[in-house]
Amino acid sequence: MRKKATVIGAGNVGATAAMRLAEKELADVALIDILEGVPAGKALDLTEAGPIEGHDAKIIGASGDYGPAKDSDIVIITAGIPRKPGMSRDDLLSTNMKIMAAVTKEVAAVAPNAILIIVSNPLDAMCHVAYDVSGFPKNRVIGMAGVLDSARFRAFIAMELNVSVENTHAFVLGGHGDTMVPLPRYSTVAGIPITELLSQERIDALVERTRNGGAEIVGLLKTGSAYYAPSSAAIEMAEAILKDKKKILPCAACLSGEYGIHDLFIGVPVKLGENGVEEIIEIKLTDAEKAALDHSADAVRKLVEDIKRLR
Ligand code: NAI
Ligand code: 2OP
Repeated sequence: MRKKATVIGAGNVGATAAMRLAEKELADVALIDILEGVPAGKALDLTEAGPIEGHDAKIIGASGDYGPAKDSDIVIITAGIPRKPGMSRDDLLSTNMKIMAAVTKEVAAVAPNAILIIVSNPLDAMCHVAYDVSGFPKNRVIGMAGVLDSARFRAFIAMELNVSVENTHAFVLGGHGDTMVPLPRYSTVAGIPITELLSQERIDALVERTRNGGAEIVGLLKTGSAYYAPSSAAIEMAEAILKDKKKILPCAACLSGEYGIHDLFIGVPVKLGENGVEEIIEIKLTDAEKAALDHSADAVRKLVEDIKRLR
């Protein structure tokens, strides 16, 4: 049977994610937004690209109507506002928490067995909203950030060493914010840790550029934030789930004591398959790495407290 994926938010990330789903023929797609006409227009445009791109995905756009999302296998939530220059992801909290709560309620009603991939910012805090409102088990609520941040780190490593991105691997853990935790010891080129290939000074520079990766793009675009790499990252996660690949990727998952952290969504390596998060992988961290992860967890916890205050 054909799989169904719904994308909520037909803006930059959502529409590009819908395009990638269709072009990879991962699923039929429902694209939903509050804007009149826009999701239907983008869905039709994507459908008309089908004969050229060679995909037969059925793509439906809807405005405020969650009917097309019925019984989706996967729902990617990108609804919300993006940041503008000078704003942090956390500045989006009060607006996006209301949007996240509203759309999650609709999604849970029509697609009670779906796996949710959360994209809207501030990411880790938005996962808490989706988890609370949906009532879904924690393996079916997953945040996209680590795949994006790790891809940025990989791109910078490949540029620095003039090697194929395909030779690179990287892990960025922690919250999707200024406290994210790139792990050079677990970041490799053809299996060789970058700590053996680059000076500490160069590693520090690449880590800093990764931490500022989102802001660097916002500063250039001026009217919004990144969407090509973010949509690729969300679709890598969706593909792992829809194809039951058992792929290990850094994702925001709800921890229950792993890494000594309780009841908090934060980026860690997880195994993604047909059941969503099938395993949380605990890798050994040095004292400094663990301290950085704890610091990042504190920052996420503060936002979760802010949500309770703002409700
Ligand atoms: P965008 O402004 O292009 O699109 C957002 C869409 O959400 C708009 O079309 C808007 O009409 C829609 N929307 C707003 N309220 C809605 C509602 N109640 N129901 C349905 N749709 C609604 O923004 P973009 O660039 O697509 O970013 C979307 C979100 O994703 C932002 O919060 C952004 O910060 C976040 N983001 C997160 C990333 C991550 O790594 N987790 C990476 C990139 C973006
Ligand atoms: C990014 O990292 C805005 O969170 C988004 O590009």
